[in-house]
Amino acid sequence: MISVFVIGESMDYAIETKNLVKHYNKGQVRAVNGIDLKVKKGEIYAFIGANGCGKTTTIDMLSGTLVPTSGEMKIWGIDQPQHRKKLSHYIGIAPQEYALYTDLTTSENMVFFSKLYGMSKNQIKETVNELLDILNLEEKKDVIVEELSGGMKRRLSIACALLHKPPVLLFDEATVGVDPVLRAYFWDYFRKLRDEGKTILITSHVMDEAEKADRIGLMRDGILIEEGTPQELKDKYKVGTIEEIFILLSGDDYIDI
Ligand SMILES: Nc1ncnc2c1ncn2[C@@H]1O[C@H](COP(=O)(O)OP(=O)(O)OP(=O)(O)O)[C@@H](O)[C@H]1O
Ligand SMILES: [Mg+2]
Repeated sequence: MISVFVIGESMDYAIETKNLVKHYNKGQVRAVNGIDLKVKKGEIYAFIGANGCGKTTTIDMLSGTLVPTSGEMKIWGIDQPQHRKKLSHYIGIAPQEYALYTDLTTSENMVFFSKLYGMSKNQIKETVNELLDILNLEEKKDVIVEELSGGMKRRLSIACALLHKPPVLLFDEATVGVDPVLRAYFWDYFRKLRDEGKTILITSHVMDEAEKADRIGLMRDGILIEEGTPQELKDKYKVGTIEEIFILLSGDDYIDI
């Protein structure tokens, strides 16, 4: 089959999808219905949309944990899921549902995941200590995950996504259950990662958070219905906030209570 992607063009993007589709239950649930996504290298892209619109399904396909029904994906110019193993070194994912071992401590989880990436003893020691410090988890390093608060688990989940220093980060609801102070800290840190050249795709329900992204994609019923910088979108819809656009475009089902 001839690839629909032009290679030179692909290299500008960290994430590219072409007509990406995922149906569940033999087509009864059309979770993702043909998404053409282009996330540039070194940008923070916020994926927003109502519950069930297909954000997690898309992220899970990009990370290689879910096989698409049809369509194409490239991460860092490399085909997913054909090169899933190779791409695991390019992708760091903090899933919506934690993928942490609850009976292991904070640092044991970090060491476990580092080993999976084949990191050396010295690398592991250095990186784990660095991330414990950055994510303010030092005090909790010997506490088992089961005993951590929701916000601490989010921090650990993000730390685990960063261990192998991947260029592409997929953060699915990374700031759910996180207090405003920590959320602000997270966003400062995300921007720092972006400035160091990382690409971040983040899903969020917190609309003032989406405003902090470089670009926003709004999903509805498994398709991308709008895209642009926060300012472009606000100008286009002549509104003051992204929340207003979210309510305007998320369909009749959305009730703002
Ligand atoms: N394993 C599955 N089997 C069947 N249907 C599924 C499965 N996973 C998700 N779905 C359905 O696919 C659709 C998209 O779900 P998805 O989790 O991708 O949405 P989301 O945008 O991440 O929602 P949320 O904001 O609640 O996290 C929903 O209708 C959901 O019920
Ligand atoms: Mg989700």
